[in-house]
Amino acid sequence: MRVFFTGGSGKAGKHVIPYLVGQGHRVLNFDKVPLNAAGSHDLLGDITDAGQVYSAMNSHAGYDELETGLGAQPFDAVVHFAAVPRMMMCPDTETWRVNVVGTYNVIEAAVKMGIRKVIVASSETTYGVCFSDGVTDPHQLPLTEDYDIDPMDTYGTSKKVNEVTARTFARRSGADIYALRIGNVVEPHEYARDFPRYFADPMLRRRNVFNYIDARDLGQIVDLCLKKNGLGYQVFNACNTTNGMNIPNEELLKRFFPNVPVTRKLDPWESLMSNEKARTVLGFKDQHDWRAYVPGFGAV
Ligand SMILES: NC(=O)c1ccc[n+]([C@@H]2O[C@H](COP(=O)([O-])OP(=O)(O)OC[C@H]3O[C@@H](n4cnc5c(N)ncnc54)[C@H](O)[C@@H]3O)[C@@H](O)[C@H]2O)c1
Repeated sequence: MRVFFTGGSGKAGKHVIPYLVGQGHRVLNFDKVPLNAAGSHDLLGDITDAGQVYSAMNSHAGYDELETGLGAQPFDAVVHFAAVPRMMMCPDTETWRVNVVGTYNVIEAAVKMGIRKVIVASSETTYGVCFSDGVTDPHQLPLTEDYDIDPMDTYGTSKKVNEVTARTFARRSGADIYALRIGNVVEPHEYARDFPRYFADPMLRRRNVFNYIDARDLGQIVDLCLKKNGLGYQVFNACNTTNGMNIPNEELLKRFFPNVPVTRKLDPWESLMSNEKARTVLGFKDQHDWRAYVPGFGAV
């Protein structure tokens, strides 16, 4: 597919775009800074400027497409990752402006130009634990997509609003718009560097309810979303299948969430942010469990 990708130069995109290119997709990366990755072309611009977004979505995906003489062709899909990706990177008002206005611009342009598949980066923070003021409990565990999301911070709320925008446009247009509640993104080099520290002090990961998503496995989820049609508006938790922690669930729950209702029987190691929907609906099978990369636990 020809894919218009926003924010592909960042932490997640720099692994997701090569994954998509490896699956045979053609990618135009619209970002403020270049990615310089083989197989994708960088178009520099700003998602908060609607004119730029509309113009960019009407572009060739690379110089070679000039050879066809057919003009710029419509993209088959949009993957929207560009954002201020957490709180306290800039003032809350700016996080809101970039994330809410930018996402509105991208989804509106895609839908009004007839693109029938849009994938947007939502966040684990919508569950309201990650960036809450104070140590708070979720209403229940595991976290599933039907949860009444109630963030108290601006970043998480911007992502919640983006889910509303996505649902609105899906309902209006009949396009497939899938929101990914992305977990804590881990790049390959971060396992050996960070996980021993997390195991020594698990409180560091309580705010993520101990979940993680390997950046390459996130690529697989995006690719599966590109290939899965006809679902209308959907939300998928995007995380790996097991917790990013060396403590089984029985003990984790007792130590860190003693007062939280558990809604079903849990496997000893399954992620407390459940990816069951991505596995059953999309066919997601993660390829990069942390045990293969943390010294002392597996291959490394
Ligand atoms: N990293 C995580 O753990 C995590 C977790 C949950 C959700 N997410 C979401 O996933 C997406 C990607 O996150 P990331 O970690 O790669 O973030 P990142 O900051 O590394 O990458 C975001 C990219 O968006 C670009 N960008 C920012 N503002 C822009 C604008 N106005 N116009 C055009 N481009 C702009 C940046 O230049 C950057 O390359 C974001 O939407 C983020 O909110 C990330």
